[in-house]
Amino acid sequence: MSKLILDAACGSRMFWMDKHNQNVEFMDNRQCFEELPTGHVINVNPTVVGDFRNMPFANNSFYMVVWDPPHFIHAGKTSWLTKKYGTLNQDTWQDDLSKGFNECMRVLKPNGTLIFKWNTYQIAMSKVLNCFSQSPLFGDKRSKTRWLVFMKEV
Ligand SMILES: C[S@@+](CC[C@H](N)C(=O)[O-])C[C@H]1O[C@@H](n2cnc3c(N)ncnc32)[C@H](O)[C@@H]1O
Repeated sequence: MSKLILDAACGSRMFWMDKHNQNVEFMDNRQCFEELPTGHVINVNPTVVGDFRNMPFANNSFYMVVWDPPHFIHAGKTSWLTKKYGTLNQDTWQDDLSKGFNECMRVLKPNGTLIFKWNTYQIAMSKVLNCFSQSPLFGDKRSKTRWLVFMKEV
């Protein structure tokens, strides 16, 4: 049965209250389990393995998409931060985020909602918004971690 909501970069599903919500398609481009010496547990187990730049879903599929892409461009390849959150490609991150945003909009139903999460630690919010074809409706303007809300315009 098709799902109502897409998490387009689910990672370890940390922000979900119910990590097994049956209404959600959990997508990530990797599947892995690792217990790190630091005590961090990496448990990425998506229901669909896929790339947010080229999603394996039909147009107009979901009522809501939540997208929390990697937000680091500088992090040690073997660091727990990289293992937990992934990293953006230093050379292509703008194009990758632009493609990801367009894909989120494509798979949303008309007037569906995109919830975008970003951490401004390494890349400013304004630089990320420059990659997107639409402005957010509303959201947090101050915190390091931002939650922004978009609607699919038709
Ligand atoms: C910031 S983490 C997501 C954390 C997650 N929201 C949570 O609550 O645990 C970003 C995730 O995006 C995934 N990712 C990176 N590039 C991707 C791509 N092109 N397509 C799909 N997922 C990708 C990474 O593997 C990583 O798990």
